[in-house]
Amino acid sequence: MSDKPLKIVTLLGSLRQGSYNAMIARALPQLAPEGMTIDALPSIRDIPLYDADLQQEEGFPATVDTLAARIREADGVIIVTPEYNYSLPGGLKNAIDWLSRVPNQPLAGKPVAIQTSSMGAIGGARCQYHLRQILVFLDAMVLNKPEFMGGAIQNKVDEQAGKVIEQGTLEHLAKQLAAFSDFIRRVSEG
Ligand code: FNR
Repeated sequence: MSDKPLKIVTLLGSLRQGSYNAMIARALPQLAPEGMTIDALPSIRDIPLYDADLQQEEGFPATVDTLAARIREADGVIIVTPEYNYSLPGGLKNAIDWLSRVPNQPLAGKPVAIQTSSMGAIGGARCQYHLRQILVFLDAMVLNKPEFMGGAIQNKVDEQAGKVIEQGTLEHLAKQLAAFSDFIRRVSEG
């Protein structure tokens, strides 16, 4: 298996200042296996609602172009998101809708891992399967297992420090990152 360094980017589905999912995303660089670096993509906050007329008249929003370029040059993407109403947040779906229209669609063939966390008991499980369905259309290569669903995430963090502190959660994330590293190397070696 090649030991080429892997550059991973995270796409965050929450805009909230005190977001638990942002805490998860921030924990990842320290949990990555050897040879993997993890950086945050720009926020999806300022992306306008998808509008084909806007696309035709003004082209792609600068944030979408930047996201597409950063995803294209990355070896993999980790989507870190809450569940909203048993699905993914509208802002994240909107960002994906824009990305899906970019020529040389950046998620095609791209290894993707999914991490959902929510205050509910099952940690955004229903969102995961909606996201997986969307990623089928985008032809992404989605890691199957281990899944990461951070249930009752509010009990696993230090709110003041803005950090995940529960050891089992950190270990689970580290295991998924190690599996993602192996998966990317398997996928890239065909
Ligand atoms: C939620 N939340 C939620 N939780 C869940 O487990 N299943 C759900 O379907 C929903 N639906 C939902 C809809 C909307 C509009 C909001 C604002 C919230 C609760 C959610 O898990 C909680 O607010 C998380 O803290 C959001 O993640 P961040 O922002 O902390 O990363």
